[in-house]
Amino acid sequence: MERSQWGTRAGFVMAAIGSAVGLGNIWRFPYVAYENGGGAFFIPYLFALLTAGIPILIMEFTIGQKFRGSAPLSFFRMSGKKLEWLGWWAVFVSFIISCYYAVIIAWAIRYTIFSFNLAWGSDTEGFLFNEFLHLTVQPGQTGGIVWGVFIPLAFVWIITLGILFAGVKKGIELANRIFIPTLVVIFLIVVLRAVTLDGALMGLDAFFKPNIEELMNPAVWVAAYGHIFFSLSVAFAIMITYASYLPKKSDLTNNAFITGFANSAFELLAGIGIFAALGFMANQQGVAVADVAAAGVGLAFVVFPQIINEFPGFNGLFGALFFLSLTLAGLTSLISITETYVAGVSEKFGISRNKSLAFGGGLAALISILFATQGGLYFLDVVDYFINQFGVAFIGLVEVILVVWVFRKADMLKGHADAISDIRLGGWWKICLGIVTPIVLGYMMFGLFKVNLLKQFDTENGNYEGYSDMFIMSAGVTVAAAAIILGVLASFGKWHKDHAEFEEEK
Ligand code: PHE
Repeated sequence: MERSQWGTRAGFVMAAIGSAVGLGNIWRFPYVAYENGGGAFFIPYLFALLTAGIPILIMEFTIGQKFRGSAPLSFFRMSGKKLEWLGWWAVFVSFIISCYYAVIIAWAIRYTIFSFNLAWGSDTEGFLFNEFLHLTVQPGQTGGIVWGVFIPLAFVWIITLGILFAGVKKGIELANRIFIPTLVVIFLIVVLRAVTLDGALMGLDAFFKPNIEELMNPAVWVAAYGHIFFSLSVAFAIMITYASYLPKKSDLTNNAFITGFANSAFELLAGIGIFAALGFMANQQGVAVADVAAAGVGLAFVVFPQIINEFPGFNGLFGALFFLSLTLAGLTSLISITETYVAGVSEKFGISRNKSLAFGGGLAALISILFATQGGLYFLDVVDYFINQFGVAFIGLVEVILVVWVFRKADMLKGHADAISDIRLGGWWKICLGIVTPIVLGYMMFGLFKVNLLKQFDTENGNYEGYSDMFIMSAGVTVAAAAIILGVLASFGKWHKDHAEFEEEK
């Protein structure tokens, strides 16, 4: 069977950027930067990008392109079953994330429509929780299905699975070639409008004001590394899978730099737009920017609707463009995470791409209904928190240690990347992967475990968000642990005979 391939280099780069640019760039980065030193955050941020983000991206592009498989298959071909499980772990984490990421996109679609007549009224918080989400149950209870979420959610899955069904070139590549430029244009309009509002400068001042002492705070460096992993979609099995569809002669290193810098440029743009808008709102209400700054669900679905309410004109249009940006940024990321398990399952069991799509995508769509129930937001909150705390950067740490130190593949990978890329990798690459990144991530994981895992069961100060032990255990800890256990179990099975053999080219 011929392996699918990207049609053009730009198509691949666009898809990689589509995966990286997501909700995280718009609703996470601005606040993380603001909270962790403002302008001074750019130092740890750039450091994390250059020592961990881009080096790991180069490594993942190289592994996928050389071994031509989904993450588990590429790892298996490189070092056997002892590494395959890691690929499955990342695949399961991606699977879980896709189940709730789809729901947030569904909200964004609904809010795009709400924008036109400012349906949220003046109490945007009450509207979100009561009228829109019907969040009237206890954490851990589902309640009934919320049709206002369910219907756009069905739409999200139909688009995503439809695009994947059309294949790598006619589906993923084409969709990204349309969605990403559209996103950039729409988002630029939003940002340009935001920076010309009254009070915008006040917001930008709060965002960029460097808080130099923060540089001495280890938590700020940890935040920078954590953000870079999430934002660049590395250690999620995605970039390996996407690179596996590259032709034999493809640039790897330069493409990784383009992807990394494009993602950061978008993030910076988002920071400027979001804080300009926050400055406008603070100015309107006569409060400080600090009083209105927020992230995540609160920023996008509570604060932003308020900002839109106060707009001097074209409120509905501006709101719709903002929520459409979230939708497009989210969709291209959802497509990429879904592709990881579609590819992995299809290769492992030797079933067609479409069967795997129906099975894997169908299962994710089914599970995602849990997050479209009345108690959905609580489930989303806990699963997201645990999977991020004990998933992403942790996989990155295990990945660099195994690849560089245990299986000693760095030189081989460097040779491969250098043979086909414009830019040659210097010694810095191996130092970043093998030394700098493991030290920082190791420190970070140790700290996280100490603080978070123990705190989860700390009866004095309470669990995360005050949730019950039962709920934390079942929705948080179990789900995060399941990803790793299922990952190990999946690696026990044999590869379908079409994929078990791999001839390395000399
Ligand atoms: N990189 C995406 C973002 O910034 C997040 C993401 C991670 C999406 C992993 C898919 C998979 O939002």
